[in-house]
Amino acid sequence: MAVRDILRMGDPRLLKVAARVTDFGSLALHDAVRDLHDTLAVAKGAGLAAPQIGIDLAVVLFGFEHIARYPDAAAVPVTVLINPVIEALDDAVSEGWEGCLSVPGLRGVVPRYERIRYRGFDLHGAPIDRVAESFHARLVQHECDHLIGRLYPTRMTDLTRFGYTQVLFPELTDVSAD
Ligand code: NI
Repeated sequence: MAVRDILRMGDPRLLKVAARVTDFGSLALHDAVRDLHDTLAVAKGAGLAAPQIGIDLAVVLFGFEHIARYPDAAAVPVTVLINPVIEALDDAVSEGWEGCLSVPGLRGVVPRYERIRYRGFDLHGAPIDRVAESFHARLVQHECDHLIGRLYPTRMTDLTRFGYTQVLFPELTDVSAD
């Protein structure tokens, strides 16, 4: 078990394009995925990308059955997604609140594609090819943005809807670290 420090906005490692995974059998990849699982479990987040724990690989972990941070979100299958590619299925864009473990304590409204197809590979190199919508689609877009050096504030279009979680959502519990 290895819980890693989560890098915070301002760290230049969060602004890089992550290296693609080329060796699915490597110890480095398996260690990265283990640390993502361990760190996300402690942080109680919806998702985490390898660059957020200082690992330069195109790997994200996301998913939950139920999550206190986003109590209205439908379950998303727990997924390790490697070398992801996302395409929008149509032009529909929806707005929703997002937070990020690298931007603790804040939330902002971010426009995202409502319906996407995402592809990539699991930890064993098997292909993943899914269609997603709503919060699931939002979460995948948010996590994969970390792999191209984008944090959600850079996707915002209305900075008047950006603020502290405890002020915006005082009813939420268990988000003290977010
Ligand atoms: Ni994030």
